Amino acid sequence: MFRTHTCGELRLSDMNKQVTLAGWVQRSRKMGGMTFVDLRDRYGITQLVFNEAVNAELCDRANRLGREFVIQIEGTVNERFSKNANMPTGDIEIIASELNVLNTALTPPFTIEDNTDGGDDIRMKYRYLDLRRPSVRKNLELRHKMTIAVRRYLDEQGFIEVETPVLVGSTPEGARDFVVPSRMNLGQFYALPQSPQTLKQLLMVSGFDRYFQIAKCFRDEDLRADRQPEFTQIDCEMSFVEQDDIINLFEGMTKFLFREIRGIELTEPFQRMSWADAMKYYGSDKPDMRFGMTFVELMEVLKGHGFPVFDDAAYIGGICAEGAAHYTRKQMDALTEFVKRPQIGAKGLVYARVEADGTVKSSVDKFYTQEVLQQLKAAFNANPGDLILILSGDDAMKTRKQLNELRLEMGSRLGLRDKNRFACLWVVDFPMFEWSETENRLMAMHHPFTHPKDEDIALLDTNPAAVRADAYDMVVNGVEVGGGSIRIHDPQLQARMFEILGFTPEKAQQQFGFLMNAFKYGAPPHGGLAYGLDRWVSLFAGLDSIRDCIAFPKNNSGRDVMLDAPSELDPSQLDELNLVIGIKE
Ligand code: AMO
Repeated sequence: MFRTHTCGELRLSDMNKQVTLAGWVQRSRKMGGMTFVDLRDRYGITQLVFNEAVNAELCDRANRLGREFVIQIEGTVNERFSKNANMPTGDIEIIASELNVLNTALTPPFTIEDNTDGGDDIRMKYRYLDLRRPSVRKNLELRHKMTIAVRRYLDEQGFIEVETPVLVGSTPEGARDFVVPSRMNLGQFYALPQSPQTLKQLLMVSGFDRYFQIAKCFRDEDLRADRQPEFTQIDCEMSFVEQDDIINLFEGMTKFLFREIRGIELTEPFQRMSWADAMKYYGSDKPDMRFGMTFVELMEVLKGHGFPVFDDAAYIGGICAEGAAHYTRKQMDALTEFVKRPQIGAKGLVYARVEADGTVKSSVDKFYTQEVLQQLKAAFNANPGDLILILSGDDAMKTRKQLNELRLEMGSRLGLRDKNRFACLWVVDFPMFEWSETENRLMAMHHPFTHPKDEDIALLDTNPAAVRADAYDMVVNGVEVGGGSIRIHDPQLQARMFEILGFTPEKAQQQFGFLMNAFKYGAPPHGGLAYGLDRWVSLFAGLDSIRDCIAFPKNNSGRDVMLDAPSELDPSQLDELNLVIGIKE
């Protein structure tokens, strides 16, 4: 038998047991005639003791063990003299009687401990060693627990897991596709699915009623902390449902996951907010609801008093940071620099402090009387000690987005974004379309299969930009963790939608014919949603990047530095595919 116990298992109650353990040498220390070795496996660390006085030969061999050697030992469980309260096995040690080196190891390029000396790049290059670190391993364990819980919940709700292909056709709209050349069909390409969207809709036509899949999705997008080119969705679709049915079912799943994974009981229904309100009060379609600081529009109060910046603005809005009036000049300058960063792009920041006596002092005092400043204070219901921060601009939407960044920054600075508090929100009533400056046409905001709100269908002909959709996102702590919609199941409405999106009937047929044709054979009303698994795991684990809960992630340039992918192909592979690589001018 390789081992009788794991390295995380033995306790004082196992005293005097004869045991066999196997694992990796975390470290060893020689103290007088004794050698102590920390033996590590997935389950924990156990201290081994070798005593020169008892068995000099064995102790000598233990002294020659290097870090990360794989060993097997036999020994007796003994009570430790100096106990370690920080380790579950800290009350015991193993007096070793046998040592078997199963494999030697090169000295690892970084220390394999939670507090490692390895930088990002080196840890990614040796990701298999990084994964030995308990903090990283725990994230994968949490991910596993999460997928098991999801499968259990959805199975109990009557969902069937169906796998859909990874080699599919390219579909326009959405992000850029990753493509794969076909050898058997020279000159033709598969695309990897950005999501199983159209396939799950076809499964509804097939009568599968309640589908789910823990599905790999691929999108050739610029990467951010919460984006990977290949990521995983908990993808779901249901027939004979309305928006509320879907929202209620997945709210139930969310509460179940909070209970199972984090031990948190969420008893209240989740808040729902229209997209329009989210933009108006938070400047974002994924507001972080852990704190207030909602926007107040100030055009009425601050326009027309001779301050040219505000007098020329199309939008003036602000937030009130409670208790931040003590901010120093230096802190205010840092905030001003923050909003002026090119990624944010505000021209400047105006502020007003509410003093202890209730008077208001602002950075633009020379334009405003105390009476107007008191109106400003009243607009926020501000109290002594509060700091009002104001942005303006010639484009309301752009300025709101800048104010959103400032709100989030202030939330962080004031410690209001505690990772152990969770605020769940449904954002509903998304617009059907958004204007694309680059394409100079309307694009589907969610995707082209999203159903417009019944009451807005008439607007499709007169004012499509004003049409709202039966689309919803789930937002937790300012992260979009999922999204979905009711789908169009009427081929005529779908054809109209493609027309508005600028597809000729021929092009729509060529790209989406398979779906439109299927809909002619009895498509049930249906809708669904997809949760981003990686984002959920990072939220539950309190991670800053989804990368940390993915076994083998890509770096910010989309590279797998361990596998050194992507890489050039062997000329013979290119030949087989009839491909010639040329660099386009
Ligand atoms: P959507 O594009 O909103 O919807 O994606 C659903 C969820 O997937 C996650 N997500 C990502 N996670 C990591 N890296 C990425 N690059 C990435 N892109 C998206 C997000 C997001 O909320 N087919 C529709 C769903 C539907 O309508 O049923 C879809 O894919 O958490």
